[in-house]
This record gives sequence, C-alpha cells and structure tokens, in this order.
Amino acid sequence: MCGIVGIVGRPGENVVGKIISGLEKLEYRGYDSAGLAVVHDGYIDVLRAVGKLQNLKTKQEGSKIYGNIGIGHTRWATHGKPTENNAHPIRSGSVAVVHNGIVENYKGLRFDLQKDGYVFETDTDTEVIAHLLQRKIAQGCSPRDALRSVQEIIEGSYALAAIFMTFPDTMVAARYRSPLVIGFGEDICVGSDIGAIASIACSEVAYLEDGECAEIIGNEVSFFDASFQPISPKRQKISPGFVSTGKGEYAHHMLKEIMEQPSAIRRTILSNKPDGRMFDGVSRILIVACGTSYYASMVAKYWFEKFLKIPTDVEIASEYRYRSPFIEENVLAIAVTQSGETIDTLEAMEYIRKNSNSRVAAIANVRNSAISRIADFVFYTEAGPEVGVASTKAFTAQLTILASMAFSRHEFLINKLRNLPSICEEILDLQYLVKDLAEKICFADSAIYLGRGSLYPIALEGALKLKEISYIHAEGFAAGEMKHGPIALIDDDMPVICLCPSGELFDKTASNIQVALARGKNVVIFTDPYGRKHLPQEVTKIILPEIIEEFAPILYVIPLQLLAYYVALLRGTDVDKPRNLAKSVTVE
Ligand code: AGP
Repeated sequence: MCGIVGIVGRPGENVVGKIISGLEKLEYRGYDSAGLAVVHDGYIDVLRAVGKLQNLKTKQEGSKIYGNIGIGHTRWATHGKPTENNAHPIRSGSVAVVHNGIVENYKGLRFDLQKDGYVFETDTDTEVIAHLLQRKIAQGCSPRDALRSVQEIIEGSYALAAIFMTFPDTMVAARYRSPLVIGFGEDICVGSDIGAIASIACSEVAYLEDGECAEIIGNEVSFFDASFQPISPKRQKISPGFVSTGKGEYAHHMLKEIMEQPSAIRRTILSNKPDGRMFDGVSRILIVACGTSYYASMVAKYWFEKFLKIPTDVEIASEYRYRSPFIEENVLAIAVTQSGETIDTLEAMEYIRKNSNSRVAAIANVRNSAISRIADFVFYTEAGPEVGVASTKAFTAQLTILASMAFSRHEFLINKLRNLPSICEEILDLQYLVKDLAEKICFADSAIYLGRGSLYPIALEGALKLKEISYIHAEGFAAGEMKHGPIALIDDDMPVICLCPSGELFDKTASNIQVALARGKNVVIFTDPYGRKHLPQEVTKIILPEIIEEFAPILYVIPLQLLAYYVALLRGTDVDKPRNLAKSVTVE
C-alpha cells in the first residue's frame, strides 16, 4: 500500500513543504521510496529518493525545487523493486502521476503502448497510467477527459493524482478500491487519508467513492461520478479533536500506542454497548480478518461459542472467497479490521454480500474507511490513529468490542469490563521487568510462544509482534500441540514464551510447560500469583495481576507487545516502520 498527496496552491505559493508534511503523515503506509513533482513556469520538476522519506527531504533541502501545484508519493513496492527509478511520481512527456493500488491489466496495456512507440523506463504497473494520460493529452484531450479515458481502460485498484505541464493550474484525481480524500482549506488538496489532509491546513474534507474523480483548477473543484456525471460530495469538517499522530515524549509510535491502551480500552467501552439482540435468530457467526485482526477474531470464537452459544467460524480473509464457500441463512458476518481498507477483508465481505443475505457488521478503527461502505453497521474501536505498523492498541480495542458483544447477555462480565483499563495500567507497570527479559531473547534466531484455549491466538499474536518488528522467526502454538512435533525445536537456546494464567486450563498448560522444561532451559512464563506458587520455582516468571479468566487474552498480550518492542530496540530494527511492511495492505 502507498500514500499519495496532491496540492493545488495559490499563485506564487511554493507547495513543496506542504507535500512533504503530507508525506510525513502517510509514511506509515509504505516507505520503500518517496518522491514529489511540481509544476512551475510551464515545466514539471520531479524529485525522488529510494528508502525512507528522510532521504527525499535531504535531497529537497539541497534543491531549488518549487511550484504552486504538486503531487507526492510514499511507496510500498508491489510491481518493480524499491529503487529510485521505480519511485513515484512517474512521468510521461508532459504528465506526472502518483498512484496507490495495482493496475491488474498493466501487462497488456504496456505491450500496446510499446507498440505505439512509448518507451518504458520503470518496472512499475503505474507507468501505463502516465503514458495513457500523456497519449490522450497529446491527442488534444483535456486533463479531465484524459483521466476519464484512463478510468475506462485500467482494471484493478487505484487512488491517483496527476499534474500536467501544459495545464499548469490543473490537477486531476480519481479512486477505485483505494482510499482518497479531498481537502478544502487555503489550498485544495487530495490525500490517501485524513491525516495527510489535516497536516496541510485543510479544515474540511470530502470522500471520493469508487469510480469517482475530481478536477481541480485553481481553487475550483469539480466532482464526477463513475458515469462522469457532475456530483457534489458532502463536505465534513475535520474534527478539532483530530488526534495529532506525533510521538509525544515517546521514542516510538509503537511504545506510545502500547501505553495508550488503557485510555483506548476505556473510550472503546464507553462508546460501544452492543445490544445482545443483534444475535437474535443468528444461526452462525462468520468472522473474516487478516493478521493481528485475525488473531483477535480467533479469540472471539472462544467467547462467542461459550457465552452466546452460537457456532462461530473465523476465516483468513485472503483465503475465504477463493474456495467458494457456501453461506446458509441467518449468518451474521463480521469484518475485523483496524484500517478498514485491507483489500483481502473488503473483498471477502463483498463475497459474503453477493452470495448471501447475511447481515454484515464491521469492527474498525478508521471512520469513513472503505469497510464502512460495505457493512450494515460498524462498531468503531476508539483507539485513535494507530501509526506504528505493528498493531497494538487497536488489537486490544478490537478484543474489547468483541468481548462486549460476547458478554452482552452476561451483565456480570459487562460490568467487570470496566475494570480493564486500570488492570491494563498495572500490567504496563511491568514494562521494565519485560525490558530485562528482552535481553534473554534478543540474540535468538527463533522463538516459540505457547498458549491454550483463548490464549492460543495470543501466542500467535505475540509471535507475530516479535517477527514483524525484530525479524526473529517466531511461532505460536497451542500448548497441547507441542508434543505432536514442534517440541523437536526446543533446545537450551530456544526461548519458549508460555502464557499460563490461573483458571480452567492452568494444570494442562503447566504440564505442557514441564515437557518444554525437560528439553530446554530458556523458558519464560507469564502467569499470576497462583502460578508463582504452583509453577516450577526456578523458571523466569513475569507475574501479572489476578484477573477474571475471560479477560486474559486482552491483558496477556500487553507484555508480549512490550517484549517485542524491547527486543526490537536491542536489535536496532526500525520499530515503527519495519522492513517490507506497511500499515494497511490495500493490494491482494
Ligand atoms: C499487525 O501488527 C500487522 N501490521 C498486520 O497483521 C495487520 O493486522 C493486518 O494487515 C490487518 O490489517 P487491518 O486490521 O487494518 O485489516
């Protein structure tokens, strides 16, 4: 997934600084390369740099690039390696374009364009958009008509913005299955999300829908729908409380977001009171999600089946629709997604929409995200913008909503949920113990996480956190599964991270830990005062407060987030922007 930004400034204004500000808010979407292009004095200047945005900023500081209309891009490479040459903006003749998405029919289009004499200079799919626009402009089309023709030809997904040397006061933009926001303020701008827009002194926004486009000439904006009829999208004020996504006094966004979990959980509880009647007549619950959101969904399966007595299936979104699953009557579908833009999850929900009469709910952290246009109703996690690529506060906020749903017919548990934030605060106070523990892990090549019952998904999530920010290969296992093969992995060097709170599965988990201890000595246990007494004394333990067993998944993930964070620090990786990753994956 990439981030795009575009600005039409006032005559004589230099918008380069604002483009950079917008890209700073979008860098979480991808950081393989960055670039910008501006129009000035009848020319287009392009500046690009491989790697993080700082490299572009360094280049820009040493340049005299200026212009009052421009576009910018921060890239997560899909087609074409992350090189400067493949960095956006991509140029063709008098046109420069930035694009987030995938042109699925680019190979055929590339072949046709090459037959027409167009020379390709990059390995990207986006270059076909630049040449198609250029070909239309060269035929005498206006930017708007050139854009319309491109929208009719390309297949796949796009959020794009383009500027033109021969139309120095015009920018066009369009979207299909990738997000695009239009901002209104002292300038007119476009951006991949509201964060970029808010950073460019815009006070109002409008959201383009799939197939819609905009033409901006000076401070005049014209909007068109998919059949190119004029429309007037609703403008919304950017709420003054739009949370800035700075790091504050923290070294990293991820640590700030881990520490924000008590308030995120508190806000989420207060703003979501799922009514148990939403499950009336439901024969099955079907949850689709990816990555960390998928692990939250796995926890929900335990809760829904135990407390709602409703069979619950959890599906990996990227797999689900490709096996043409049958969906019977009275199924409640739920999409769980932090960004609300994960194309795998969106497409899975579209499949459910098209192939059943299921009601479709969503749990999302970003308002007006694409999922909100597919779901019948959305429960919003109130985690605030999550910038760290590794999801933390959104995950525990997702679990909070899923718990509120599962416990909606159990007043005792609903009332006890209110204690979560304060218990979370207590657990965060363990951070320095966990930091010391990181020293035992940071040199490992691999690590194993063990959990039983609703803590099995938390073992998977803990392993994912370690993988994605420290690059240590880690695997989560159902603790009872170790004896069926994975135990061969254990030796004295292999860190084995065990989740063992008191409760129904304590004894079973304790015996699994004994089996691990008989084969390796680098075992660490996250438990509570009961476990401190009843587990082998010689083993390293982190003691969490005694809690209601049902809340363990929400709380036991927190030390695992901290563990991954501190191990990554020790290994010197980029905690907030780990290699190869992006915050939301809007390509399949
Ligand atoms: C989480 O740490 C990862 N960055 C990733 O697995 C993420 O959860 C996944 O891509 C799903 O994203 P979504 O919740 O925005 O749909």
